[in-house]
Amino acid sequence: MRNPKIITEHWGKIDPLKIEDYLNVGGYAALKKFIAKMDPQKALDEVKISGLSGKGGAGFLTGAKWEIVAKQKGEKYFICNLDESEPGTYKDRLIAENNPQILLEGIILAALTVGAKKSYIYLNGNFEKAREILERAIEQAKENKFLGSKILGSKYLLEIEIFSGAGAYICGEETALINSIEGNRGEPKIRPPYPTEAGLFGKPTVVNNAETIANVPWIIQNGGGRYSECATKLFVLGGAVKKRGVAEAPIGTTMKKAIEELGGGMQRGKDFWFAQVGGAAGRLYLEKELDAPITGSGAILVVDKTANLYDLLLSWTGFFRRESCGKCVPCREGTFRLNEIVERLADGEISDRDKEAMLDILWTLENTTFCPLGKFAATAVRDAVDKLGVVSTNYE
Ligand SMILES: Cc1cc2nc3c(=O)[nH]c(=O)nc-3n(C[C@H](O)[C@H](O)[C@H](O)COP(=O)(O)O)c2cc1C
Ligand code: SF4
Repeated sequence: MRNPKIITEHWGKIDPLKIEDYLNVGGYAALKKFIAKMDPQKALDEVKISGLSGKGGAGFLTGAKWEIVAKQKGEKYFICNLDESEPGTYKDRLIAENNPQILLEGIILAALTVGAKKSYIYLNGNFEKAREILERAIEQAKENKFLGSKILGSKYLLEIEIFSGAGAYICGEETALINSIEGNRGEPKIRPPYPTEAGLFGKPTVVNNAETIANVPWIIQNGGGRYSECATKLFVLGGAVKKRGVAEAPIGTTMKKAIEELGGGMQRGKDFWFAQVGGAAGRLYLEKELDAPITGSGAILVVDKTANLYDLLLSWTGFFRRESCGKCVPCREGTFRLNEIVERLADGEISDRDKEAMLDILWTLENTTFCPLGKFAATAVRDAVDKLGVVSTNYE
């Protein structure tokens, strides 16, 4: 079966400031179907059948997450994660800017399914355009009775609030995000308990990535079975390819296919060196490894042989040094020292002691930090050491 465009179908064709445009292309049919013919259990079943998995990086099964919260009684929350502070990744922002109503419809369906009456969109504070568009979209959804009390005349109610973060990378991590909404310092919490048990204000909470949520209207409208046969993913292509930007393609697309078909191949005169897959926290892949499917958040940076690896190392380690929240010593100190060593490496002043320390720090980040950010800080540098030989004596 040909893969439909589930998320990007109407990008550029509808005005994101006009709900009528979304309604004219069949928007809110899924919510109408939910209200008229379904109930939360049926919707949950469809999402479970669909096999929808999280698009925020970890790939957790969405239906399984929702079920834990749906089973619990009392106050609950649904949060749309639109923090997206990772360099080279902007797919979620483009969803909000190009088709905000698909996101709202997804949030409404998700919240009603898990039994939440209040939902937050945790929006990166730098996304001013997305904020304006989403604010307008929420107003229009309320005017059309898709939001508020008695949604489409039913017993269901939901309020959606936009919460602007300050653009800290750690606040994309779900427990840090929850801390941030609660008015606390944006740093991760110990797990368990997981947010599904004790999340926002101590209540059961689902946190989902914006792309994950934008798939939900299609699933409710067309059925989980169909989705499982033609699921897609947004890929963000950057670097030395001919066509940079966001493309929607079948799940399981290999790196090679993404570079050649979605990215149109290498730019003229540029030779492939490696690809970084998954943003600043992504692993590095050599040409011989490109037959594997793309995993993680879907960002691909294609690096050609003229690139300066030291500049890349400085940008990766500088990013994590700045973004470490400082809660745990191995990451607070490790990201700092790693960046310093890379600075000496780039200046041609690296000593044997630095090389040893670098390997120690990488191990420490990989194995001892409080949250995954520490591990992420080591990933690309580790691959630069192991695959590109960056600190070996014969690296030029
Ligand atoms: C350091 C760090 C940053 C993260 N940033 C984001 C982010 O910007 N957006 C996002 O959706 N998930 C992010 N995540 C993953 C979230 O913690 C969480 O797994 C995700 O929002 C769940 O949604 P999903 O199941 O739909 O993928 C981050 C995780 C870590 C450790
Ligand atoms: S690993 Fe880094 S970001 Fe995570 S808690 Fe420790 S200091 Fe904070």
